[in-house]
Amino acid sequence: MADKVIPLADQRYVARVPIVPLNAAPPTGLIGDALGRPLRDLRISVTDRCNFRCSYCMPKEVFDKNYNFLPHASLLSFEEITRAARLFVAHGVRKIRLTGGEPLLRKNLEVLVGMLAELRTPEGEPLDLTLTTNGSVLARKAQALKDAGLQRITVSLDALDDAVFRRMNDADFPVADVLAGIDAAQRAGLGPIKVNMVVKRGTNDHQIVPMARHFKGTGTILRFIEYMDVGATNGWRMDEVLASAQVVERVQAELPIEAIAPNVLGETAERWRYVDGGGEIGVISSVTQAFCHDCNRARLSTEGKLFLCLFASHGHDLRALLRGGHTDAQIAAAIGLIWQQRNDRYSELRSAGQAAVGAESGARRVEMHYIGG
Ligand code: GTP
Ligand code: 5AD
Ligand code: SF4
Ligand code: SF4
Repeated sequence: MADKVIPLADQRYVARVPIVPLNAAPPTGLIGDALGRPLRDLRISVTDRCNFRCSYCMPKEVFDKNYNFLPHASLLSFEEITRAARLFVAHGVRKIRLTGGEPLLRKNLEVLVGMLAELRTPEGEPLDLTLTTNGSVLARKAQALKDAGLQRITVSLDALDDAVFRRMNDADFPVADVLAGIDAAQRAGLGPIKVNMVVKRGTNDHQIVPMARHFKGTGTILRFIEYMDVGATNGWRMDEVLASAQVVERVQAELPIEAIAPNVLGETAERWRYVDGGGEIGVISSVTQAFCHDCNRARLSTEGKLFLCLFASHGHDLRALLRGGHTDAQIAAAIGLIWQQRNDRYSELRSAGQAAVGAESGARRVEMHYIGG
């Protein structure tokens, strides 16, 4: 009988071992990519596991008990993550977001938070340190995360209605526990809290106004996200996308809002505020209004592969350098070279009809549970 071939989980995406340039100048913090975009935001995935099975991210049929998640030895250690993060900061990163999978499933995550909280910009400032969670165990962990130095938090929540929420997370998880997590984060001082709702037409779009009403006046910033064609497993269809313009229209009809200016360049969300002073909401329109032109985000996967775009089909194997006896200066130079060559702008190309979409794409695209939101 032929041996059964067990694919190595961490070889699922192509990743090149980066070139280490000789005699590169030290990082200036002013690096630009091939389209002139700086490097400001680093998203670090700390686990590829999640206790939810949202159909747009980890559909149950694919991510079942036979799915090979990464073995522990493949994961970057907290020391490796912190070392890499320090080099990205030298190149200009000012915001670090921990993601997953579900980052709070990584053991002792608060230890990593504590290590990252100690990093400083060249001007001596702490970083904007945040985390995206599904909120399922947040009530238990909020205070420890705050104590470790986490500044703020973003919670994914797709519906207020318990039945709709349970269907969307496909793990029969009750909405009350996530709401309790949000309250605990608020009490712990992890604000301003953001709540991200992925809108799927026909699935949860009737929850738009109830969600807006619920969070209005609480200080929590609700953001509506257009359902995207990330990865290759979610069976994305354009007719399930509800354009942000329509989301705004639906909120506007019940709760008057007006547009406000962005906080910083390269922001994903377009901001709106309630006319009566009830706070703000946001819409993230990566399908109908691509925001690649000033995308300053780099993504580090759970096992140390650097991805330059959410829709990339190959990464750059930084772990090979981190474990290969290279110096900080060498790894920083390699990161600099990778960023300088970056020309990704998938969403813009999709809008222009120049990108292979969803199942049509040839090379296997990275999955969101692996690279983080
Ligand atoms: P804040 O600083 O908290 O506002 O963070 P953010 O604006 O970076 O937003 P967040 O990390 O919460 O991302 C929200 C959602 O926007 C993600 O879950 C994705 O769906 C989408 N998103 C974030 N970054 C990108 C990106 O670079 N490209 C695309 N296409 N979508 C993105
Ligand atoms: N489209 C849009 N956002 C997505 N996310 C995951 N999959 C998708 C998708 N297909 C985002 C959600 C979730 C975060 C972890 O990733 O915002 O909250
Ligand atoms: Fe888990 Fe978030 Fe993906 Fe849902 S969207 S399956 S909560 S990682
Ligand atoms: Fe950035 Fe890629 Fe998203 Fe465009 S599609 S905003 S380049 S991550």
